[in-house]
Amino acid sequence: MNVLGIETSCDETAVAIYNDSGLCCNEVYSQIDLHQAYGGVVPELAARDHLLKILPLLDLALKNAGLQQSDIDFIAYTKGPGLMAALMVGVSVAKALAYALNVPTIGVHHLEAHLMAAMLENAKPQFPFLGLLVSGGHTLLIEAKALGEYSLLGETLDDAIGEAFDKTAKLLGLPYPGGPLLAKLAEEGDPSRILFPRPMTNRPGLDMSFSGLKTAVLTATQTQAYTAADIAASFQAAAIDTLKIKTQRALKQTQYKSLVVAGGVSANLKLRSALTHLAKKNNINVYFPKHEFCTDNAAMVAVTGYMRAQRGDYDKDIMILPKARWPLITVAT
Ligand code: KG4
Ligand code: ZN
Repeated sequence: MNVLGIETSCDETAVAIYNDSGLCCNEVYSQIDLHQAYGGVVPELAARDHLLKILPLLDLALKNAGLQQSDIDFIAYTKGPGLMAALMVGVSVAKALAYALNVPTIGVHHLEAHLMAAMLENAKPQFPFLGLLVSGGHTLLIEAKALGEYSLLGETLDDAIGEAFDKTAKLLGLPYPGGPLLAKLAEEGDPSRILFPRPMTNRPGLDMSFSGLKTAVLTATQTQAYTAADIAASFQAAAIDTLKIKTQRALKQTQYKSLVVAGGVSANLKLRSALTHLAKKNNINVYFPKHEFCTDNAAMVAVTGYMRAQRGDYDKDIMILPKARWPLITVAT
C-alpha cells in the first residue's frame, strides 16, 4: 500500500511516499529565502511558490522511490490548519491526481501529522501518550488516547513558543525564522545571566503564555547591559524551563508513561536534553522525531495517511475543502 503525502500548509512544499516497508522518499522545498526579506511568511507568495514547486517535487519523489503514478494507492494531504491560499494548492493537486488515478484521498490534520512524525522511527510510541506540540503556530499539551482521539490539557493563551523564539531573534537582529539561529547564538551565552520570567508556572493549570517573555527581552535589549548571546541563552533557558514545568505537571496529572514531543521547536537540542532528563526522572519514555521531521515535511503526512488508510478512514467526498482553522480535538468529527 503506497500512500503519497502532500504538505503545503505554510512555507514548505513537501511530497513523500510511505508504504509497508516504511518511508520511500521525502522531498522538501523550503521557501525561507523567498520570505526572508519580509521578516515573515507572505501567504500569497507562499501559495504561488507552492504551485511552481509541487509538480516537479512529485516527479522527484516518484523517481527517488522508484515508483510510477499508477503505483499510488492513497493520497494524503494537509487539510488544515494553515494558510488558506497555501493549503488550497496541496488540496487541489491531491484531489486532481486522485480523480485521475481513481484512488481515495485522506485529509490530514497538520498537528496530528506533527505528532505522528514519531511513528517514522523504529521505536514507535504506543497510545495513549502525552503529546507536547511546539511549533511556530501552536503550543499544546495533549492527551493522545488513540489515533484521532485527542483532548486538550493546556495551550498557550497568546504567542506560540516558536513565535516567541522568532520574535526574540528578531529583537536581537537575527533574520527570519530566527528560532534555530537564536539557539545557535545561545550556545555562546550564559543562560543564568538574566532571570527572565517563567510565565504562568506559579499558577495551577497547564495553559501557557509566551508574549510577556518577549517584552522582558525587549527591556533587556534596551538596557544595553547584556550581550546578545547572554539574552539569547537566558531567553532559551526561561522558555524551556516553562515547557519543562508544564510537561512535568501534565505527566503527574495523566500518569502516562510515554511523552511525544513534536513540531519545529522539538528540533531544539536544549529542549530535547531537558525533556530527556525529565523523562528519566519520571521513569517514562520520551519520543522525538528525527531532526528533519520536526519542522514541516510530508513524511509525517504520508505516515498519518497510512495509519488512517489502514482503518478505512479516508475522504468520502471529492468536494472536501481545506480548513484554515481546525482544532485538533475535533479531528475525528
Ligand atoms: O512546525 P514548524 O516547522 O511550522 C509550524 O507548523 O509552525 O515550526 C517552525 C518553528 C519556527 O518558529 C522556528 O523558528 C522553530 O520552529 N524552530 C526552532 C528550532 N528549529 C525550528 N526553535 C528553536 N530552536 C530550534 N532549533
Ligand atoms: Zn508545522
